[in-house]
Amino acid sequence: MTPFRLTRLLPKDATGADLRADVRHGLTSTPKTLPPKWFYDAHGSELFKKITELAVYYPTRAEDEILAASAAEIAAETGARTLVELGSGAYSEKTRHLLDALPGLHTYVPVDVSESALRQAGQALLVERPFLRVHAMIADFTGTLVLPETPGPRLVAFLGSTIGNLLPAERAVFLASVRDLLAPGDCLLLGTDLVKDPSVLVAAYDNAPTSDFNKNVLSVINRELGADFDLDAFDHAVLWDVAQEWIEMRLRSRTEQTVKIPALDLAVDFAEGEELRTEISAKFRLPSLVNELSSCGLELSHWFTTPAAQFGLALASPSL
Ligand code: SAH
Ligand code: AVI
Repeated sequence: MTPFRLTRLLPKDATGADLRADVRHGLTSTPKTLPPKWFYDAHGSELFKKITELAVYYPTRAEDEILAASAAEIAAETGARTLVELGSGAYSEKTRHLLDALPGLHTYVPVDVSESALRQAGQALLVERPFLRVHAMIADFTGTLVLPETPGPRLVAFLGSTIGNLLPAERAVFLASVRDLLAPGDCLLLGTDLVKDPSVLVAAYDNAPTSDFNKNVLSVINRELGADFDLDAFDHAVLWDVAQEWIEMRLRSRTEQTVKIPALDLAVDFAEGEELRTEISAKFRLPSLVNELSSCGLELSHWFTTPAAQFGLALASPSL
């Protein structure tokens, strides 16, 4: 079996330092917010997996269907020898369509902030595919990425519509930095959930497993920073923001309460009914996506969707 390689781009204590900075900033802001990357400890990754298996959570199945139907065309178009996957998660399940379709693939480079997710996915892949080279990177995809020296062309995949979890300004910075990673002949494969009937969108997020996933961020803060969040003192709340065209997940305080966070020497007051925003999940339309890509130096070359246009997969390359 090829050895599993793991490179840490984040310093050993970065997770702790970043978490402390994000929690201090987010919980002392008005309104209160937390960035969604802190959902995904090992338990959070399992909860996310449960969500992807729900009948109402269509994005994973829809993207899987698109990849099953289009991986051969994507492989022929890109001829990729290195497949980089941003936010690859603990399973890399949908990615297997691409791994199977790319005949000349040299190395798979999963990139995630979660070391446990990378180890789990990488090791499972190597058991199945002993000759695959897997070089995992512990890195924050919103920061500066330095990829390993592997043969091109590179295909950079960002699946699941995780791009929708970035705010529009963060998306622009992110897409420009992905553009800078691409040499001529390299491509970006971007999964995007599409605007649709709000009742379908809300149902995908307003359910018990997603409530557990949402509250898991409080467990992470309790464990890592010694906080005393009572998970039962918050309600999971979901809304569709019509103007921004994004789903928002929030945690609503059931009562007036004060939460202590000893590692930050901080006490945070919540009013009854006060909401803490934990995630946005933007939904896309093709024309504005094409504009967003082109303003970051990326040109759409192919667009793949399901017949019901629930989800879209964009293949883009650096503009000439
Ligand atoms: N791509 C998979 C998993 C999506 S879940 C799918 O489509 O099903 C989102 C993943 O992105 C999680 O594994 C999480 O740890 C990772 N992630 C979130 N924010 C990140 C960041 N800023 N940098 C790197 N990884 C991040
Ligand atoms: C990873 N990301 C694209 C998911 C989403 O749908 O925005 C995370 C998620 N949040 C709640 N359910 C799933």
